[in-house]
Amino acid sequence: MPTLLLGVTGGIAAFKSVEVASRLRKLGWEVHVVMTEAATRFVTPLTFQGVSRHPVHVDQWAAGSDSGIEHIDLARGIDCFLVAPATAHTIARLAHGLADDLLTMTALGVRAPMVLAPAMNPKMLDHPATQANLRLLEARGWTLVTPAVGEMACGDVGSGRLAEVEDLVAAVEATRLRDLVGKRVLVSAGGTREPLDPVRYLGNRSSGRMGYAIAEAAAARGATVTLVSTARLPAPAGIEVVPVETAQEMHDVILARYDGQDVVVMAAAVADYRPAERYGAKRKKTTEGWTVELVPNPDILYELGQRKQHQILVGFAAETGDPLEAAKGKLARKNADLIVANDVSVPGQGFEVETNRVQIVGPQGLVADWPLLSKREVGQRLWSLIAALPQFGAGPV
Ligand code: C5P
Repeated sequence: MPTLLLGVTGGIAAFKSVEVASRLRKLGWEVHVVMTEAATRFVTPLTFQGVSRHPVHVDQWAAGSDSGIEHIDLARGIDCFLVAPATAHTIARLAHGLADDLLTMTALGVRAPMVLAPAMNPKMLDHPATQANLRLLEARGWTLVTPAVGEMACGDVGSGRLAEVEDLVAAVEATRLRDLVGKRVLVSAGGTREPLDPVRYLGNRSSGRMGYAIAEAAAARGATVTLVSTARLPAPAGIEVVPVETAQEMHDVILARYDGQDVVVMAAAVADYRPAERYGAKRKKTTEGWTVELVPNPDILYELGQRKQHQILVGFAAETGDPLEAAKGKLARKNADLIVANDVSVPGQGFEVETNRVQIVGPQGLVADWPLLSKREVGQRLWSLIAALPQFGAGPV
């Protein structure tokens, strides 16, 4: 039986975690609960004791508790650690490794998958300090469950409501998913750089984060993952990273490895053109203009589509304006199975940010239209969609 350690902090949404605990118990999870002192002002420990059928942990100094080891015992042997709701204060404490109560002491001992569900006033969530803390936690492997948009208890409207119970349950269940075991997947990430000379290049605004999130989600679910990347982000654990720079290099690496793959996700922003001429030495500044001739790069996804055997092919369509029509055309033209479309002209989605809002098109049309989510969640949901495709089971294992 998988074991969940549920951390509850002091937000008005704490009552929703009662339902989360109850639902997960029905799904076969053993649930233990640790609460902050503030959380007990919103929901009594007795309520959580009732749904979890275990004593609830709050105070490391409580009579009868062994203050030396309780926090280590709580973290030991668990399969998932969920903090919901997570207040700005606890997020800050977790980000900086403070250990001033039982919940935060316990957190430092956790080595199991960790899920964080922030809930707070939109202004507090939006504050650079909170955002920086969330980025830190995400970089350390926490899965963030994106808060929902709506009216808050205080009357403010915006992003900050605790995610729905179903989303929290799904995020915890996702940490157990091993549906990609035996599958080989290749993901491309980042914007290609097309050199003009040894110093200058033509590039684009892709950070590579979407591709990294997709690769990490696949590895967590058991896939053997190759990440062909132009981004110099830290290499995710257990993933083979092949660094490349230009579209041509990316093309050569991907085509050479194509036969052995079950799924290829082209999340990279591949330059359509490269300078016709590449100077061997830095081109000197003159008072004249500089006219650069561009020649087309190979279209990697198109070639993969042409040579497709059993592989599932997923492309991206980063567009400005309505991306859906473009995605439908791309799917057919490139013989892809899914196209992930996003409008990169909207702030907060697409390039250089941690969040994305995507729509996904398959041969029958629109198959998914998700709200603004962390890239990690988009990656996780994308694999659920891919694993549900009829072709998915058909490839060689
Ligand atoms: O229409 P466009 O070529 O921009 O389609 C984008 C999709 O095609 C993305 O998945 C991108 O990674 C891929 N692509 C490619 N080779 C190119 C250009 C784009 O594989 N030269």
